Amino acid sequence: MMNKAAFLNSTGTSLAIQDAPLPHPEAHEVLIRNHAVAINPVDYKIQDTGALVSKWPYVLGEDIAGEVVEVGSGVTSLQKGDRVAAFALNIVTQNQANAGFQLYTTTAASMTSRIPDTVVFTDAVVFPLGLATAAGALFSTEYLGIDPPKASAPALPESKGKVILIWGGASSVGSCAIQLCAAAGLTVLTTTSTKNFEYAKDIGAAETFDYLDDAIVEKLVKAARGKEVVGAYDAISSESSLAACVNFLHAVGGGKLSLTLASTKLPDLPEGVKVVAGRLPLQGPHGGEPIWRQVWTDFLGTGLQNGKLKAKPDAHILGGGLERLQEGLDLVRKGVSAKKVVVELVK
Ligand SMILES: NC(=O)c1ccc[n+]([C@@H]2O[C@H](COP(=O)([O-])OP(=O)(O)OC[C@H]3O[C@@H](n4cnc5c(N)ncnc54)[C@H](OP(=O)(O)O)[C@@H]3O)[C@@H](O)[C@H]2O)c1
Repeated sequence: MMNKAAFLNSTGTSLAIQDAPLPHPEAHEVLIRNHAVAINPVDYKIQDTGALVSKWPYVLGEDIAGEVVEVGSGVTSLQKGDRVAAFALNIVTQNQANAGFQLYTTTAASMTSRIPDTVVFTDAVVFPLGLATAAGALFSTEYLGIDPPKASAPALPESKGKVILIWGGASSVGSCAIQLCAAAGLTVLTTTSTKNFEYAKDIGAAETFDYLDDAIVEKLVKAARGKEVVGAYDAISSESSLAACVNFLHAVGGGKLSLTLASTKLPDLPEGVKVVAGRLPLQGPHGGEPIWRQVWTDFLGTGLQNGKLKAKPDAHILGGGLERLQEGLDLVRKGVSAKKVVVELVK
């Protein structure tokens, strides 16, 4: 087995494809031969600014799907030959072996989920960072603290009268949030551009509103009337989306807003509105497993199997291997609409 990686040699340079060491799994890890990788906004942000890089050259990439080719000595949940989707955590570990934009990646077995045979790698790879981010923001007690869904059990009937606002339902993180909340039985109100109304309903939103509509807050408040609002999740976290979410919560009597970006400048908050800002929690409140990892383990494989989870946004596939990654980064930087840019590494 020979490895190659897409190296970022310094801030603002294009990716360079070169030979790379073949990583070997530590006791808690597996080695994955990547068949497909997906591109997230954080990848072009790192390329543009050098943020989160502790050492050059750096290898980007959080979302991988492929085949397990080697299993660490302490891993019992996965086997050689398993088809998986996994979260590559170089942004946290700063260990190149754990980066996604290469032919072979090692990652923790706890970040790796088996996928059904019916799901192709280019579909399964749309999830890792988006699903983990949404699940952390929705279900962690330090964020919205909503009861997570169980892939194998029906939604709790008492959730039906409860409403959540998910701002940015056509984004990758927002799409995961809609699907998770719908599976938890909540009534989901969301915002997209008009061309994505049907898309958002198809993945579980009860009602969709145009985020460019000047009267959007009034319309959202009307839609929530008579129901308990459990909070709002701003999967976009621009100053305007944040302000609209705050106004919505204030108008319905207060509540908690969870943000996908921790860096957004906060406005003066009205009484009763609390904002919790988005960093993927890596530990639970008592130092144990964070709740998103339970959702990840329970929901991804089983949810794909029983249809509770659809591989959305649809993959925009670039075939042809690591050489297409720079083009993919440029596409995401330009802006995508209800699409995940995916590079296929093995045909
Ligand atoms: N904290 C974390 O751990 C974490 C993790 C993942 C992502 N993020 C951040 O979260 C943000 C979203 O990431 P992503 O991968 O989900 O993005 P994405 O899929 O690239 O987002 C594109 C979508 O955003 C929608 N959109 C753009 N502006 C909007 C607005 N003002 N209101 C509502 N929707 C809007 C567009 O909808 P239309 O096409 O309908 O116009 C488009 O479909 C990025 O800034 C990313 O860096 C943070």
